Amino acid sequence: MSDPRPIGLFDSGVGGLTVLDAVARRMPFEDLLYLGDTARLPYGTKSPETVRRYARRAIGFLLSQGVKAVVVACNTASALALDAIEEMSPVPVVGVVAPGAEAAVAAARASDRDGVRGSIAVLATEATVASDAYGRAVRALDPGRRVMHMACPLFVPLAEEGWTENEVAHAAAARYLADVPRSGARVVVLGCTHYPLLARTIAAALPTGTILVDSAETAARAVEAALAPALRRGETSSGKTRLLVTDASDRLRLVAGRFLGRPAADLTLVDLP
Ligand code: DGL
Repeated sequence: MSDPRPIGLFDSGVGGLTVLDAVARRMPFEDLLYLGDTARLPYGTKSPETVRRYARRAIGFLLSQGVKAVVVACNTASALALDAIEEMSPVPVVGVVAPGAEAAVAAARASDRDGVRGSIAVLATEATVASDAYGRAVRALDPGRRVMHMACPLFVPLAEEGWTENEVAHAAAARYLADVPRSGARVVVLGCTHYPLLARTIAAALPTGTILVDSAETAARAVEAALAPALRRGETSSGKTRLLVTDASDRLRLVAGRFLGRPAADLTLVDLP
């Protein structure tokens, strides 16, 4: 039965707005409640214990707002804390790692040639890389498929600065991705909320024809599948979106605007209990 409650989305910051945008485009009638834990960003350089502690606290807050599902838009939190979040949540939880891995395996299988199985490269934060969450998810679907991980920590501040296509971004991409062509990877997963903003620069550093998998798009499809009966139908107007953050500086509004593609005047500051 259709459920009028909002879908909750969580990220360490405002990078998850790429997932929010994908969810809003696929399910335009849904109300969306987004929480960015901007006071504690970045998660990607922190220890697993800290990421789990922060994520649990933020999800507890989202659940207290009466959401019908939780979308963990943050790759780092999905990689390190999804089990802890599922344990505490009475509503469905969708992370970005499993859908991203599924899409990567499908793309890799489709691009295998003459019985040679190409590998998959995963670009992500240091914490996500260390967790091997994408590697485990890929191997569960396609045992024996090789997965290489590249931590690309500078891509996060570059995306926030709006330096996504200049010479600094191209130099960082060339340096981080130098080993990808040698590995034979034809599929590259953008395993961090911020990396889709650098997609063109990343593609330019890779051999022509390399397939980029954007976990925002694949996660939105997974949300739709998980919530199918509870989705709102037959509405006449589109759903409302509320954006909550735990720190709201002027710079953050600017950065959020970069991810939203419009001025982010409507950020509401909340304090997590
Ligand atoms: N949201 C994080 C992720 O997708 C990137 C930013 C951070 O390190 O907190 O991994």
